[in-house]
Amino acid sequence: MGRRGEETKKTDDRIEALDRELSRLGIRIRDADQRKVLDEVFDEVTLHALYKLANKKVITAVGGSLSTGKEANVFSAGCGEGKDCVIKIYRIRTGNFNAMGDYILGDPRFSNIRKTKKDIIFAWTKKEYSNLSRATEAGLPVPLPIAFDRNILIMEFLGEGGIPYPQLRLDPPADPERAYEEILDLITRLYQKARLIHGDLSEYNILSGGDRLWLIDMGQAVTPDHPSAHRFLFRDIKNINRYFGNRCTILDEHDILKGIVGEDFFTP
Ligand SMILES: Nc1ncnc2c1ncn2[C@@H]1O[C@H](COP(=O)(O)OP(=O)(O)OP(=O)(O)O)[C@@H](O)[C@H]1O
Ligand SMILES: [Mg+2]
Repeated sequence: MGRRGEETKKTDDRIEALDRELSRLGIRIRDADQRKVLDEVFDEVTLHALYKLANKKVITAVGGSLSTGKEANVFSAGCGEGKDCVIKIYRIRTGNFNAMGDYILGDPRFSNIRKTKKDIIFAWTKKEYSNLSRATEAGLPVPLPIAFDRNILIMEFLGEGGIPYPQLRLDPPADPERAYEEILDLITRLYQKARLIHGDLSEYNILSGGDRLWLIDMGQAVTPDHPSAHRFLFRDIKNINRYFGNRCTILDEHDILKGIVGEDFFTP
């Protein structure tokens, strides 16, 4: 066997060992039928992070897939006695991580990280965790962050009876006027109270359920001192106006921006 072959075999052995450890902890993931997807998501680094989370009893089960996105896979999971939670795994092998650099490197909280692909993904995961914490502390309706390790984020499950709340795009609001107001209020509070700009706001990243709207997917959210902060905020506002434009009366996007950022607008 060549050197390359030996390396691969060693990795396979380590992966198998981690697999066994995880099954010992009652967590089964690799016997599902979507083998290829699983191989792409559950590489050695990811399995090791999962093992640590399972060993600490943060997670007790990995459930079905909720979503496969550009950068991440989202699974339902168990977090202790009958409690649902969500595992978001940023893919190390096949993630589209190039765009991540722009958001991370302009953010003073994360500007000193090393710049390898893995480092950026780990920093991104940590950033999503801390963004969710900030938003939670400011009282915004976002999933409560529970834990993170490397490329894995564990958060509260938003849903009822094991069924996740639908994205706004799949469950258009019965009262669009009210939903529009609610979202503008969320963007405003996110900026003014949590000091965050979502940065990828659309009907895809808003869930609707329990008689309210929820903001999710906050990895790219930045603070107002990010050099592109107001450009991202303006883009979020335009996205929301685009969605509501043919559903209810909308406000002028420049007026909304000024209303949200207030005096910040004039600071250099
Ligand atoms: N906490 C949660 N509770 C219930 N469902 C969730 C939760 N988080 C995510 N989901 C579901 O998974 C989908 C994808 O999640 P999310 O938007 O965070 O990742 P993504 O769009 O794949 O991210 P990226 O674009 O960065 O790859 C959501 O649209 C939602 O349907
Ligand atoms: Mg999303």
